[in-house]
Amino acid sequence: MAAPVLILDETDSTNAEARRRAEAGEVGPLWIAARRQTAGRGRRGRAWDSREGNLASTLLLTLNRSPAEAAQLTFAAALSVADLLDRYVPPALVSIKWPNDVLLDGRKSSGILIESGPSPSGGLWLAVGIGVNLAHAPQGTERPATCIAEHLRYDVVATPSTEDGAKVLAEAFDVWLERWISLGFQPVLDAWVARTPGLFGPCTARLSHETLNGIADGVEADGALRLKLPDGSLRVISAGDVF
Ligand code: BTN
Repeated sequence: MAAPVLILDETDSTNAEARRRAEAGEVGPLWIAARRQTAGRGRRGRAWDSREGNLASTLLLTLNRSPAEAAQLTFAAALSVADLLDRYVPPALVSIKWPNDVLLDGRKSSGILIESGPSPSGGLWLAVGIGVNLAHAPQGTERPATCIAEHLRYDVVATPSTEDGAKVLAEAFDVWLERWISLGFQPVLDAWVARTPGLFGPCTARLSHETLNGIADGVEADGALRLKLPDGSLRVISAGDVF
């Protein structure tokens, strides 16, 4: 059964809300979704545009896993967003780009930010934060963005509301979380590879201090990408290293 979904009209950031609750001893599982975020957070300290009509949602949960293991859930999160998009837009337009960008017609449609810390009750709290552009595509972003409303399937009558999106996302994530808990990471990784076209081949990896051009030729068991550089050397790039 998917975790319950709490819908807030407004908060600073659903990830920040999950962190406050976790640090106060709440263990979840609980989805915290918001119609508006006043300080939505993106990766690498960037801001996340969180206008009303889009989805900002964070799953708070507590696990007895290491932070490295828990980071595998970024792949489950990307698959869940892809499943959500499939419900409303032509699935042929949906793809994943390593490590966790879910693209719609080749443009950014969503973002994933996972944060974690030691839970006061033992274990590791996790805030699996997911933003999906339902009704609006932010303009002037580093990478071109789009939203579900721009690509609605012919048989879908309306753009999903924040509530609908939050529920569909919670159900989709529950399936991948269950699979990860009961079967391990490999089936999740396999499903993710299947939805990531062009994963292997020419690749540009933007890291915090350098940009690497090479040929991606595989993923490690932990989801890190193997990149062959022009000088023949091999670099293994973990999802967390990508800028
Ligand atoms: C990215 O930079 O691509 C990640 C963006 C993650 C945005 C989501 S929206 C819900 C949750 N709350 C936040 O403040 N950030 C994440």
